[in-house]
Amino acid sequence: MHAITIPEPGGPEALVWAEVPDPVPGEGEVLVDVVSSAVNRADVLQRQGFYNPPPGAPPYPGLECAGRVSALGPGVTGWAVGDEVCALLSGGGYAEKVAVPAGQLLPVPAGLDLTSAAALPEVTATVWSNVFMVAHLRPAETLLVHGGSSGIGTMAIQLAKAVGARVAVTAGGPEKLARCAELGADILIDYREQDFVEEIRKATDGAGADVILDIIGAKYLDRNVQALAVNGRLAIIGLQGGAKGELNLGALLNKRAAVTATSLRGRPLAEKAAIVAAVREHVWPLIAEGVVKPVVDRTVPMQDAAEGHRVMESSAHIGKVLLQPPTAA
Ligand SMILES: NC(=O)c1ccc[n+]([C@@H]2O[C@H](COP(=O)([O-])OP(=O)(O)OC[C@H]3O[C@@H](n4cnc5c(N)ncnc54)[C@H](OP(=O)(O)O)[C@@H]3O)[C@@H](O)[C@H]2O)c1
Repeated sequence: MHAITIPEPGGPEALVWAEVPDPVPGEGEVLVDVVSSAVNRADVLQRQGFYNPPPGAPPYPGLECAGRVSALGPGVTGWAVGDEVCALLSGGGYAEKVAVPAGQLLPVPAGLDLTSAAALPEVTATVWSNVFMVAHLRPAETLLVHGGSSGIGTMAIQLAKAVGARVAVTAGGPEKLARCAELGADILIDYREQDFVEEIRKATDGAGADVILDIIGAKYLDRNVQALAVNGRLAIIGLQGGAKGELNLGALLNKRAAVTATSLRGRPLAEKAAIVAAVREHVWPLIAEGVVKPVVDRTVPMQDAAEGHRVMESSAHIGKVLLQPPTAA
């Protein structure tokens, strides 16, 4: 098969479409013929040499895919050759075939085309596990989503609205904020022009956000704590603004608030399978009903993954950038 390889870390040109050995599904794994994959921020870090795949994962980038089951490894039940699926991966999505632990497979939601299903696994699993399983967002609470127009943000807005929460977003500029509003966001904050702490306080009668989903990390840590409500929960999932910051424990203590930080990729198989099962139970029906939709900015040929990375690094996109291998055409 062919896959995107990274012979030497570097810029987008480091991504090279090359012939590589076919993967063989091991015990409990399923082989998927990939119809589409998607670009995630983590893939950019992997390309630059800052985020190696966890042990046992394929060396190629790609944290999600959609496709058809083409073989079953020993001990797999519940899936059959020919099934149309999407999957959460630890790597290897930028390829014509990938072997996936069966617990990380999902059926394509009813009514959705197979290609678009690749936009779902990483964002649904990350948002569901953080906003709902860790931070326990409840109806009528306020969620602040940083980067509302990102792949993660566009899913977080829709899921929070679907459970009856109020949603505030930050994004860079009116066009991105307008798209967030179309997806249901109630409070729109242009982080280039406005102070999000001030804006969230104004919009909540001084109370602040009950839950914050943060992708910036250190640079926003202090202001995120300021923006939290009493009993607030700050869920950090990205470190785009650095990893080391100063945490005001006094402010946290007075608010009886919590700070968590999680990453999905390196978790044990059983934890990933539990998250995928929760996504199937809670998120899949919302997609089948059309309440929640994947937001796809564009699809580019997988051989031109470099172009997908350039788009993501320029932040020209809203939602997800998909990659399609030539074999999918
Ligand atoms: N922990 C996990 O398990 C996990 C899993 C998946 C993703 N993530 C993280 O989630 C983040 C989003 O991932 P993605 O794949 O959805 O990437 P993405 O679509 O490229 O999103 C990145 C976003 O960051 C926004 N941004 C940049 N500076 C900002 C600022 N100062 N304030 C608010 N927003 C800002 C950009 O929006 P503008 O153009 O508006 O600036 C862009 O929408 C990444 O940091 C990624 O590493 C974590």
